[in-house]
Amino acid sequence: MQSANTASNSSTVSDSAITYIDMHPPRHDVVKEVLAGFSGAQKVLSPKYFYDERGSQLFEAITQQPEYYPTRTERKILTDNAGNIADLIGQNITLIEPGCGSCEKVRLLLNALQPHQFIAMDISAEFLLTATNALAEEYPSLDITAVCADFSQITALTHRLNDSKNEHRRVAFYPGSTLGNFHPGAALDFLSTVRQMVGSNGGLLIGVDRHKNAGILDAAYNDAKGVTADFNLNALTHINRLLPANFNNDTFSHHAFYNSAQQRIEMHLRSETKQVVDCASHAINFNANETIHSENSYKYTPEQFCALAQTAGFKVIKTWSDCDDLFSVYYCAAQ
Ligand code: AVJ
Repeated sequence: MQSANTASNSSTVSDSAITYIDMHPPRHDVVKEVLAGFSGAQKVLSPKYFYDERGSQLFEAITQQPEYYPTRTERKILTDNAGNIADLIGQNITLIEPGCGSCEKVRLLLNALQPHQFIAMDISAEFLLTATNALAEEYPSLDITAVCADFSQITALTHRLNDSKNEHRRVAFYPGSTLGNFHPGAALDFLSTVRQMVGSNGGLLIGVDRHKNAGILDAAYNDAKGVTADFNLNALTHINRLLPANFNNDTFSHHAFYNSAQQRIEMHLRSETKQVVDCASHAINFNANETIHSENSYKYTPEQFCALAQTAGFKVIKTWSDCDDLFSVYYCAAQ
């Protein structure tokens, strides 16, 4: 295994199977960030705190609940249209997936797409290496690069790709309606950064959840088995360990609803009693029924998404949807 430091916070390691690039951003102050979120009139906690190991497992379990339609619907769209998607995207590309997780969805495309290279980005190094090594075994001829980074490092990755004189056309893959976690302004910033990364001849294949009957949306975030509730409450367990803090999960409840004015699902953790919670030796006061806003999941009509993409410098070339118009996958070309 070779290793070469190329910058202070960035190193490259390669073995026969994959190339590994560590671009982990400087560790931020978790205590400061969480306390800042608890200091406003509406307490907030970033959805990234859902994803410790148990949280990732609970999310996986959510995707298998009958009420949670997005994952299976997107999978079917990608599977049914893989050939068509590959024809539109073209051959010999560098495919880049920010937040690739287990690399489960890209597998649906690889046989049809046959990219020259796959760049998998994720903030969890261990998860990333496990996922990309498994992928390398299944696709021995695929050139795979694993980049440990979060979205804040996309611009740094762009410079690196430009410097490496990689001449292959770049296409970003962003499935799972993860875009929905961003406020619309942040979604625009994110897409603009991706547009910079793929360059003027690049593309973006993205899956985005759609508006629909509020009953279907409410059910998807309030599954009967309570898996989404456990997922939401697990953020407090995670925070207890990280800060540390002494949240008692039994005194908080899961609350998710469709906010039609804001066009988003909101998830909250509601304190059932008036109480004081110790967070890294700071006393945080909760009134009875006061909530921590833990996630937004924005939904987009195809028209809304096309307008957003356009503002970010992309033109939607093709839209694929399921027969019930629950979810859409868009192929966007740089403008
Ligand atoms: C991973 C952000 C797409 O918003 O549907 C699932 C996360 N939250 N159930 C979503 C989630 C509650 C999911 N995303």
